Amino acid sequence: MDILHKNSTVSEFILLGLSSSQEVQIIFFAVFFVVYVAIVVGNLLIVISVLFDNHLHSPMYFLLANLSFFDLCLSSVATPKVIADFLKTLKSVSFWGCMAQMFFMHFFGGGEMSLLIAMAIDRYVAICKPLHYKTIMNRRVLLVLLLLSWTIGFIHTTSQMVFTVGLPFCGPNVVDSIFCDLPLVIKLACTETYILELLVIADSGLLSLICFVLLLVSYIFMLATIWQHSSSASSKAVSTLSAHITVVTLFFGPAILIYAFPFSSYSINKFLSVFYSILTPLLNPIIYTLRNQEMKSAIKRLSSQHVGSGWSLKYCL
Ligand SMILES: *[C@@H]1O[C@H](CO)[C@@H](O)[C@H](O)[C@H]1NC(C)=O
Repeated sequence: MDILHKNSTVSEFILLGLSSSQEVQIIFFAVFFVVYVAIVVGNLLIVISVLFDNHLHSPMYFLLANLSFFDLCLSSVATPKVIADFLKTLKSVSFWGCMAQMFFMHFFGGGEMSLLIAMAIDRYVAICKPLHYKTIMNRRVLLVLLLLSWTIGFIHTTSQMVFTVGLPFCGPNVVDSIFCDLPLVIKLACTETYILELLVIADSGLLSLICFVLLLVSYIFMLATIWQHSSSASSKAVSTLSAHITVVTLFFGPAILIYAFPFSSYSINKFLSVFYSILTPLLNPIIYTLRNQEMKSAIKRLSSQHVGSGWSLKYCL
């Protein structure tokens, strides 16, 4: 480890957080804490319902459960430390802690991005090739799609972190954010980072922009297909598709703004990273459990089986 780190005299980074006022930080602490608990509970609920409810044993729900799992991982990389940091005056993170945060953020982020594409492929087959859906989206294809998501996430993060870890950090170590954000940390290196900045723009920004446009176009194509062959099932399909489009937009929107124009406006980036770490992982549970009838009934079944007659989640939904 120290061999890699030989060019740097910086052993820790200082995070500025969101505010220097004690009272404001306590409010942030409370809000982030509540939201994080909601993220964990909501996403776990999706994973557990899909795993244990036979009604939800279909490719779409397996992919959704995996998306929730990614969300759990993604939000657990930095958020618990961010929450604890709100109670500290000096927020620091070790050199390797900072590198690990960026590595895993992009690992799970890249994986989630690929999984959203897999979900679009699944919907495409269901809508445009309904008679062959069962044969095309079989267990093997699902596992290949999942394996691809993890692999793409790994390649995506490694391709950027390999160069970031080797940068010389010789003094400036203040990151004006709540966690280590790749563009901000690269800026601190005492060397010309122009090429690496371009790599990050291409690898994170351009990639999300291209995926986003492709996903949007394919969902519009699917919507058009449904409207052409309007059938009794079409309103349900439209509501599923609009849920997917919402998730895709809210996932990629901030990513594109942060990484396609990363070295411009810092105050916007700070706001976006909050959005990213706290709001995006909360979206799946909100969108899928509150809007999807099958998911709702699965959670109700789950709660009546396992929670018993006392208080039950039934009353929340
Ligand atoms: C992810 O999808 C696979 C493939 O069908 C499924 O077997 C697995 O249970 C899912 N994982 C989670 C955490 O839901």
